[in-house]
Order: sequence, then structure tokens, then C-alpha cells
Amino acid sequence: MARPANMVAPWPSILHVHFFFLFSISILSLRPEICLSYNLVNETDRISLLEFKAKIAADPYGILSSWNDSVNFCKWQGVICGRKHHRVTSLNLHGLSLSGTISSYAGNLTFLRVMNLADNGLVGKIPAELGSLKKLVTLFLGPNNLTGKIPHSVGNLSSLQRFYVSYNHMEGNIPNELGQITSLTVLALGPNNLVGSIPSNLYNMSSITVLSVSQNQLHGKLPANIGLTLPNLQIFGIGMNQFSVSIPLSMTNASYLEIVDISANSFTGQVPINLGDLKGLQRLNLELNFLGNNSSKDLAFITSLSNCSNLQALSLADNNFGDVLPSTIVNISTLGDLSLGRNQISGRFTCWHITVAIIFILAKPAFSRKKREIYSLLQVNMIDLPELLVSALGQHKTLLLFL
Ligand SMILES: *[C@@H]1O[C@H](CO)[C@@H](O)[C@H](O)[C@H]1NC(C)=O
Ligand SMILES: *[C@@H]1O[C@H](CO)[C@@H](O)[C@H](O)[C@H]1NC(C)=O
Ligand SMILES: *[C@@H]1O[C@H](CO)[C@@H](O)[C@H](O)[C@H]1NC(C)=O
Ligand SMILES: *[C@@H]1O[C@H](CO)[C@@H](O)[C@H](O)[C@H]1NC(C)=O
Ligand SMILES: *[C@@H]1O[C@H](CO)[C@@H](O)[C@H](O)[C@H]1NC(C)=O
Ligand SMILES: *[C@@H]1O[C@H](CO)[C@@H](O)[C@H](O)[C@H]1NC(C)=O
Ligand SMILES: *[C@@H]1O[C@H](CO)[C@@H](O)[C@H](O)[C@H]1NC(C)=O
Ligand SMILES: *[C@@H]1O[C@H](CO)[C@@H](O)[C@H](O)[C@H]1NC(C)=O
Ligand SMILES: *[C@@H]1O[C@H](CO)[C@@H](O)[C@H](O)[C@H]1NC(C)=O
Ligand SMILES: *[C@@H]1O[C@H](CO)[C@@H](O)[C@H](O)[C@H]1NC(C)=O
Ligand SMILES: *[C@@H]1O[C@H](CO)[C@@H](O)[C@H](O)[C@H]1NC(C)=O
Repeated sequence: MARPANMVAPWPSILHVHFFFLFSISILSLRPEICLSYNLVNETDRISLLEFKAKIAADPYGILSSWNDSVNFCKWQGVICGRKHHRVTSLNLHGLSLSGTISSYAGNLTFLRVMNLADNGLVGKIPAELGSLKKLVTLFLGPNNLTGKIPHSVGNLSSLQRFYVSYNHMEGNIPNELGQITSLTVLALGPNNLVGSIPSNLYNMSSITVLSVSQNQLHGKLPANIGLTLPNLQIFGIGMNQFSVSIPLSMTNASYLEIVDISANSFTGQVPINLGDLKGLQRLNLELNFLGNNSSKDLAFITSLSNCSNLQALSLADNNFGDVLPSTIVNISTLGDLSLGRNQISGRFTCWHITVAIIFILAKPAFSRKKREIYSLLQVNMIDLPELLVSALGQHKTLLLFL
């Protein structure tokens, strides 16, 4: 009574087909978008990526060879798609030594949230078409060798939070339109070759936490109320430009400030005496300006800095500071780097602290434009010492030198 094998054999495969069929239908009815998306992937994204690839002249790691039609573009290296729509949400090609230009087709990746092309050798302009990326949150374009102006269309990036175009060769003005982006928190525009002033509406962007325009050719004065209009500022870097006039008193109202670098500009006048109200201050660089007026009030602000319990670096070098160095400086207990050279600071220096080394360099014309230079350092890690002296210091933690 054994059944013929040929009658039994088909069952499993029939069952299988049947089961698979049912299973497919139930998936289709429950989650139709999953099945549909594989069939109707957005051609615009695929074409945009291929056009992007076509503008890359060199790809030494061969990353873009995976960008071919043997697999869905969502699996191409550096590409991430949204699960639901299968649209490109992230393009991360950071640090791959790519050269070539940025295709304007990148502006058609309309679901893009992250574009990171930093640390490559890209040249040419930032395509104005990128302004249509309404969902873009992060745009990292530097270091590269990009040129041309920052397109006005970036003001249309209404979701943008981080815009980083540092270490390029961007020219022209900072576009006013950046001030329209109410979500912007990080704006890093230097080093570049930008000219003009910072548009006044940028100083009104209360969302900003990092404003860095160091190493450009920008000028102008800082608005008197800057610390009130940028209350969330943590990093303020405008070094190596041509900013002038005084440090606004309201700076102390930006109470989250951690790093302030206004070095190598043309600031004059006195440093706000209550600068130490910025209790989170970690680095303060005022060097290479015209601050102070060779008077006995010039360093009064140093006393307040003892309230900055994280202050690690302070440079006052190359200014017009007079005054006796206040002994309260020893109360900035976290200070590692202190630079006072090329001022008219005077006073009797003693070894206040076990880790303090103080160096007086008198009449060394090779180093100084003035009669006397004073370097003071803690923990022997100051960077602007002549090489020779650094090696002489060796591992000594406490040292007093008169040369
Ligand atoms: C693909 O995306 C573009 C731009 O977002 C849109 O205009 C087009 O309708 C989409 N096509 C499909 C098939 O979804
Ligand atoms: C296409 O991409 C796949 C990986 O996605 C890769 O294995 C293959 O070598 C690529 N083909 C070509 C012709 O580069
Ligand atoms: C994408 O962008 C290019 C260049 O910016 C444009 O010519 C093209 O019409 C756009 N649209 C599609 C669907 O590719
Ligand atoms: C930019 O170009 C210069 C020479 O023109 C080159 O030395 C430098 O490495 C390039 N930078 C990048 C990030 O490719
Ligand atoms: C910004 O977007 C608006 C509306 O889409 C458009 O009219 C305008 O031309 C865009 N601006 C720039 C500079 O692209
Ligand atoms: C900055 O904001 C203040 C108050 O909202 C406003 O009065 C002023 O016109 C704004 N300035 C700029 C340049 O947008
Ligand atoms: C700004 O700071 C000054 C001095 O630190 C203080 O007197 C003033 O009340 C502050 N203003 C605001 C609006 O917080
Ligand atoms: C130096 O500046 C202080 C504070 O601004 C001022 O009171 C003093 O008169 C100035 N002294 C000289 C010599 O300019
Ligand atoms: C600074 O003031 C001191 C004492 O008043 C004076 O000897 C010195 O020449 C002044 N230096 C400068 C550069 O004005
Ligand atoms: C440190 O801060 C406290 C509280 O804000 C203040 O009373 C004190 O005067 C400050 N000390 C110095 C040296 O400025
Ligand atoms: C350093 O701070 C302590 C405690 O606040 C104070 O007693 C001392 O006088 C200060 N030292 C100097 C040199 O101001």
C-alpha cells in the first residue's frame, strides 16, 4: 500500500510555493511600501549619485567602484538610505582623498540629511543647487580645495544645523542668507579667503553655539550686544582677521563660552574687567592685538579669571598691556599655557607654584621687538618658546631662568 514516490514528492514543493505565495500576499497587504520600494526605487537618486561619481576625477581607494548597477544604490559605499522610502539620507565620503568637483546633481538628493565630503581634495565651486536640500542637517565640505563664493542658496537649507566649510579657498563675502537658517548651531567658515564683514543678522542667530571665521580677511567691529544676541555661544573664533575696535562688555553675558580666540586682529581698549564671569572658559587667546594702553589698569581682569575653574590656556602676548602682573594669576589653578611676551608687563616674579617655570628673556633682539620679553609657563608645555629653550628645560618642572 505504499504510495508511489512520484505522488508524494510534489507536495513539499507545492506546499512551499503555496506558503510562499500566501506569505508574500500577507506582506504585501500589511507593508505594501516595502515591496513597492524595491520595484520603484527613485531613479532621481540613482542618477544623481552616478552623476556625482562622474565628476570625481580620482578615487585612490576605489570606493566609488562599488557604485555600479550590480547592487541597489542604497548599498553603495558611503550611501545610506531611509528604510521606508529608500531615498538617500546620508552621503559620507569623508577622508577618501577624492579629487574632482561636486556635481550639481547632488542637489537632487532631496531626502539627504547628512553630506560629509570633508578631508578630500575636491576643487571647484559649491554648487548653488545644494540649496534645494531642504532636509539637510549636516554639511561638511572642508578641508578641501574648493573655490568661488559661498552660494546665496545655502540660506534655503532650512533644516541645516552644522555648516562646515573650513580649510578651503572660498572667496567673496559671507552671504546674508545664512542668517535665515534658524536651526543653525555650528558655522565654521575659516580658514578661507573670505572678505567683508560678518553680516549683522548672523549676530542675531541665538541658536549658534560655534562661530568660527578664523583666518580670513574679514573686518568690522563686534556689535555691542553680541553676548546677549548669541547667548548660546561656546566657541568664538575670529582670529587672524582684521576685526577692530573694542571687546564688547556684553561678551561676559554669553555665559557658555569655553573658547575665545580673537588673536591677530586690531582690537584696542581694555579687556572687560569681569571676564571671569565666563566660568566655563577653557582657552582665551587675545594675542597680537593692541589691547591695553600701558596703564596700571590693563590687567585688572586677571583677578576675575580665578573664577574660571577650567581655564587651561591664556595668551596676552603682543599687545600694549602695561601694569604689574597681578599675583592673583596663581589662583588660575588649571592654567597650563600662559603667554605674556611682547608687552610692557612688569613686576617681581617669584616661583609661586611647584609646577611654575618662569623665564625672563632680556634684550634678545632676535626674539623681540621690545626691550624685554617675559615668558611664563606652567608645566613646561608652552608652545611659543624658542625651540632651544624648550630643549634646555627638559623635564624640569620648576625652573627660574634669567638670560
Ligand atoms: C523621485 O524623487 C523626485 C524628487 O524628490 C520626485 O520628483 C519624483 O517624483 C520621485 N520619483 C518617484 C518614482 O518616486
Ligand atoms: C560593482 O560593485 C560591487 C560591490 O557593490 C563590486 O563587488 C564589483 O566589483 C563592482 N563592479 C565593478 C565592475 O566595479
Ligand atoms: C537634477 O539636477 C540636474 C543638475 O542640477 C538637472 O539638470 C536635472 O534636471 C535635475 N533633475 C533630475 C530629475 O535629475
Ligand atoms: C590643496 O591644494 C594644494 C596645492 O594646490 C595641496 O598642497 C593641498 O594638499 C590640497 N589640499 C587638499 C585638502 O587636497
Ligand atoms: C530659495 O528658495 C526660494 C523658494 O524656493 C527661491 O525662490 C529662491 O530663489 C531660492 N534662493 C536661492 C538663492 O536659491
Ligand atoms: C536682530 O534682532 C533684533 C531683535 O529681534 C532686531 O531688532 C534687529 O533688527 C535684528 N537685527 C538684524 C540685523 O537682523
Ligand atoms: C550682562 O552682564 C552684565 C555684567 O556681567 C550684567 O550686569 C547684566 O545684567 C547682564 N545682562 C543680562 C541681560 O543678562
Ligand atoms: C588707559 O585706559 C584706561 C581705561 O580705558 C583709561 O582710564 C586711561 O585714561 C588710559 N590711559 C592712557 C594713558 O591712555
Ligand atoms: C609704558 O609706561 C612706562 C612707565 O610709565 C614707560 O616707561 C614706557 O616707556 C611706556 N611704554 C610704552 C611703549 O609706551
Ligand atoms: C567669583 O565669582 C563670585 C560669584 O559670582 C563673585 O562673588 C566673586 O567676586 C568672583 N571672584 C573674582 C575674583 O572675581
Ligand atoms: C587665591 O584665592 C584664595 C582663596 O580664594 C585667596 O585667599 C588668596 O588670597 C588668593 N590669592 C591671591 C594671590 O589672590
